[in-house]
Amino acid sequence: MTIHAISLFSVKSGAPPLWRWVRRGLLLLLGLVLLYGAGRLVHVALGSFYSGERGPYLQMPAPHAVTLRWQTATATIGSVRYGLLPKQLGYHVTEGRAGEEHALRLTGLQPNTLYYYVIEADGEPRYGGAEYWFITPPETGSTLPLRFAVLGDPGYANPKQLAVRDSMLEWLGAHLRSGRAYLDLLLTTGDNAYRSGSNEQFQTGFFDPYGVIFRNIVVWPIYGNHDARRWAFFDLFDFPTQGESGGVASATEHYYSFDYGQVHFVVLDSQSSSMRPGSEMLQWLKRDLSQNRQPWTIAAFHHPPYTKGSHDSDNKGDSRGRMFAVRENVLPLLERAGVDLVLSGHSHMYERSHLLNCHYGTSDTLTPAMLKPSKEKNDGAVVYRKPFEQKNSGTIYAVVGSSSKVDNGSLDHPVMAVSLRQMGALVVDVSGTQLKARFVTDKGNVADSFTIIKDRNSTSAFPCDS
Ligand SMILES: [Fe+2]
Repeated sequence: MTIHAISLFSVKSGAPPLWRWVRRGLLLLLGLVLLYGAGRLVHVALGSFYSGERGPYLQMPAPHAVTLRWQTATATIGSVRYGLLPKQLGYHVTEGRAGEEHALRLTGLQPNTLYYYVIEADGEPRYGGAEYWFITPPETGSTLPLRFAVLGDPGYANPKQLAVRDSMLEWLGAHLRSGRAYLDLLLTTGDNAYRSGSNEQFQTGFFDPYGVIFRNIVVWPIYGNHDARRWAFFDLFDFPTQGESGGVASATEHYYSFDYGQVHFVVLDSQSSSMRPGSEMLQWLKRDLSQNRQPWTIAAFHHPPYTKGSHDSDNKGDSRGRMFAVRENVLPLLERAGVDLVLSGHSHMYERSHLLNCHYGTSDTLTPAMLKPSKEKNDGAVVYRKPFEQKNSGTIYAVVGSSSKVDNGSLDHPVMAVSLRQMGALVVDVSGTQLKARFVTDKGNVADSFTIIKDRNSTSAFPCDS
């Protein structure tokens, strides 16, 4: 019967019977692929929306401006009243039309100044009171000290995430700076919402647990591989494309820089932007670093150049080679510009290097000349000295990836001075010629502490051969 059917068909079409069946099979396969693709597209699109309430969070700060964002469950016209005292909110901005997602830029602000605010929905107060405030950054170049915290891969909603948050807040509360906020800004190292970066997961894994911080302290979330699984990330956050917060305009939200006082931050996209030599991101990075005159420079991106945690930076198949690309193509530019500290996540551990330079291969290519271990301690912290404004003067690499979960790994990368399978967050102070960082665990103890001192008498200890 089958042979008969095929031959009948072949008479009609003129095609050989076997080819006819192959063609049908290919068409069926193509249909299935298209169906799967359409299903994925719908799945990704649906996961990118969220229709509930979302409290206020601060974005894109500058000495004279900041953006406030929030969300309402129904369409409302949002407005913000703000001023120098909770009961004297003399300034007012309002939206032109009703919507659920709200963003208002407050401009004309004074630098390093405390403001209180009330958010209104259709003219009725929605969020406000003495606990809704923010402090603008100082002018770029100001010597005002900076304190910031780093949450690594923070978006896995679970009780341990809250333990890290609470121990960090407790530590900060016990070590307040006179006349200053408990933090000046908060940075993440990516993977802000597990497992898929859906808008709803951003609510449960990011805004619900950390919203109490976000209403006062600006958050700079970095783009991780889990964030990239939906389209929510770049809808939820505002990043500077035109140098609004300092640095050279990048014309994209994927990578940018910003300033706080004497510190220049460079944020890169190690997930979806090309890191090939000559790529747009690396061309921009060169321009930005060459124009930077700040005494301190900190770079941050998701994929670590060195790790033996839940990822292995010696394995080119791990994370599609992104750790190799970062190490080989990005690090030489950062080190040539004298970048002091590089922050990343992805590996759910805490790993922190010695002062390091020119190590762009796998760990078996490390030589003693590339490392400068500390021989000094000050106030419990190991001290690294490096010269001012000198290329290849040494960089500390910290993998901060255990603020909401911790995984397994060999933890034996030879560049690391400290490798810990512990949960926690990093708190960093930059003041004058000193940068001091502490890893505060979920139990509230400081498991690592290091200091970088910029020493005018120091010379570069280990120039690159190349
Ligand atoms: Fe990751």
